[in-house]
Amino acid sequence: MARVLLGVSGGIAAYKACEICRLLVRGGHEVVPLLTPGAERFVTAETFRALARRPPGDDVYLHLTRADLLLVAPCTANTLAKLAHGLADNVLTEAALAHRGPILVAPAMNPRMWSHAATRANAETLRDRGVALVGPDEGETAEGELGVGRMSEPEDIVRAAEELLAGTGPLAGKRVLISAGGTREPIDAVRFVGNRSSGRMGVALAAEARRRGARVTLLGANLAVASPPGVELVETPSAAELEREALARGLESDVVIMAAAVADYRPAEALATKRPKDRAAWTVELEATTDVLAELGNARVPGQVLVGFAADQGQRGLERAREKLTSKRADLFVFNDVGREDIGFETLDNEVTLISGGGERTVAKAPKEEIASAILDEVERLLG
Ligand code: CTP
Repeated sequence: MARVLLGVSGGIAAYKACEICRLLVRGGHEVVPLLTPGAERFVTAETFRALARRPPGDDVYLHLTRADLLLVAPCTANTLAKLAHGLADNVLTEAALAHRGPILVAPAMNPRMWSHAATRANAETLRDRGVALVGPDEGETAEGELGVGRMSEPEDIVRAAEELLAGTGPLAGKRVLISAGGTREPIDAVRFVGNRSSGRMGVALAAEARRRGARVTLLGANLAVASPPGVELVETPSAAELEREALARGLESDVVIMAAAVADYRPAEALATKRPKDRAAWTVELEATTDVLAELGNARVPGQVLVGFAADQGQRGLERAREKLTSKRADLFVFNDVGREDIGFETLDNEVTLISGGGERTVAKAPKEEIASAILDEVERLLG
């Protein structure tokens, strides 16, 4: 997920920044806390290191490295002035000058300081430069004064941060629907017909699409791994549920990636209770399920990118994947050779061949996160 520089300056609201830090970490972000000397009079760097789960002996120049967002909360009148004028006299103000990317500032100060012409001008300068401000809110200050100057609530600040993060990246504004995992088709109340898909590849795709700014919905079929933060998860344990949810959302999605192993067949009849064991043979009749990707292909809207996965074996499998690209009217097929033990099912790595109308490209064996990135590069290219 995103890397957030969390600048904390010296005001009584600094204690609330602990909660901001916690919420960002819970949202799956990497947080680099940057406390000014003034902030350390209110809170300790140690608290933030613990909340941000920073490893001991962090790089001292971490504040100068790449980050997706600089969030300054609380931002005192003094720090606001420094940011407006480009001063760099501590880690936070240095980071602000070195940072290339969105900046979000949550001012917190006495109402008379906030309404002072100097502060107003500084805030205006920052806004003109594209810096986003959240708050300050109206209410009672720590000193018991009423007016506008209180820092916004941590939840509101984190929401504003999430919005800024979502608004950036090459897939910003795009809706991406991804299915992942393997469906289970009930035979009776406790047994099912299933497959070995863990959902790792689809989950890696969801995380990467989110990181690139997309609004991501993940249709999860019995995932063995956690759904990434910031991604809407809809549980679709069986082919029928996956079909229903995918068709309901497919048309309004800019990109649909069918990474799930959807059962091609399901028991024609599932017993409502558990079938007790007896000596007799048990014949289960299987009926075909709907091909979700083919349905989406038939109903496709212009500009949409549809991606299918083909888990198959060898050269013949590759040829079949090429045929599926056409028959299912998809834009991209990701072929992976499940005949190999070292990639694919239940492994952390994968090696795939990307097949589209424009040609074919093999992505060498790599962790599924890197494969996800290569697939989304191709999706971006297809989106044009
Ligand atoms: N798929 C689907 N609905 C199904 C079955 C598959 O949407 N009922 C999608 C899968 O998510 C995947 C692609 O179609 O993106 C795989 O196509 P499929 O024809 O099922 O290929 P395989 O299962 O790989 O191979 P086979 O045809 O041999 O079963």
